[in-house]
Amino acid sequence: MKILVTGGAGFIGSHVVEAYVSQGHQVVVLDNLSSGRRENLPAGVPLIKADVRDKSLAKDLAGEGFQVVNHHAAQISVPASVADPRHDAEVNVVGLVNLLQAALDWGASRFIFIASGGAMYGEPLTVPVPEDHPMHPGSPYAVSKLCGEAYLAYYASRGLNTVSLRYANVYGPRQIPQGEAGVVSLFMLALLEGQPPVIFRYPEQPQGMLRDYVHVKDCAAANLLALSAGQGAYNIGTGLGTTTLELWRAIQEAAGQEMEHRFGPARPGDLRQSVLDIKKAQAELGWRPGYGLAQGLAQTWAWAASASQD
Ligand SMILES: NC(=O)c1ccc[n+]([C@@H]2O[C@H](COP(=O)([O-])OP(=O)(O)OC[C@H]3O[C@@H](n4cnc5c(N)ncnc54)[C@H](O)[C@@H]3O)[C@@H](O)[C@H]2O)c1
Repeated sequence: MKILVTGGAGFIGSHVVEAYVSQGHQVVVLDNLSSGRRENLPAGVPLIKADVRDKSLAKDLAGEGFQVVNHHAAQISVPASVADPRHDAEVNVVGLVNLLQAALDWGASRFIFIASGGAMYGEPLTVPVPEDHPMHPGSPYAVSKLCGEAYLAYYASRGLNTVSLRYANVYGPRQIPQGEAGVVSLFMLALLEGQPPVIFRYPEQPQGMLRDYVHVKDCAAANLLALSAGQGAYNIGTGLGTTTLELWRAIQEAAGQEMEHRFGPARPGDLRQSVLDIKKAQAELGWRPGYGLAQGLAQTWAWAASASQD
């Protein structure tokens, strides 16, 4: 298939590109390189350096014959969305609509969108959280992802097959240590730099936040399956909760190093718990996570340690 991957030079998108290329698909990446890097792309994959908000994309790329659009490009920071909600909406809502309309105009058959399995649900009423849990978006970022799914439903009614993958906390090689999504990379950086990390916590939850950590290669596998299966939204996580303190211990074990840590108060809006129910993705996409946390962290540590030598 011929596939356009937006945000394909970024952390998760570049693993999706690798997975598609490994299965013989023809991939073109569209990325403005605001956080992505050309070096993240496999050799031979063309990069269109452009912004998803660019109004001329539909016309400029009309002759390419894309059959699938996979949309990973986004403004990904929750605090940045609070500081500048307008920019967040421009990239995450207007940019998405630009690509959805282009996909429809091009006659593409499928559109894969990336939502958020933590931010959109808010503090869960039940754990693990199923897809039909009430939505309580607590930030402009979460609102933009929820709004994106509403646009997907509209374009599905126009004949486009649409799938939304709601990722849990994704970790793995090529993650840049920034923002709250990157706690694994932040903790690994702390070890590499010899700077004790801060574990944020609520007084009644001394082990820190409960999160669902999913390996980026498992996310890439879900994107492969979504090329030919599924309709609607799917949680992509592990169904297993890990506290921040457990994660920090597991990272030290993976690294074969020990270091002290500090505690800090939970930041405004920090969810106490976020663990995803993944039964729907198992049943309808035939997807299940392959990486256990210890194995995934060992593989990520090996990458982080060698990348720090470069
Ligand atoms: N990392 C996580 O844990 C996580 C969790 C849930 C959802 N997501 C979603 O997964 C997707 C990928 O996130 P990531 O963690 O790989 O982040 P990332 O920053 O590494 O990737 C985003 C990519 O999009 C590109 N981009 C940003 N704005 C653009 C624009 N206006 N036009 C064109 N390209 C643009 C960036 O250069 C980058 O390559 C995002 O949609 C994000 O919201 C990530």
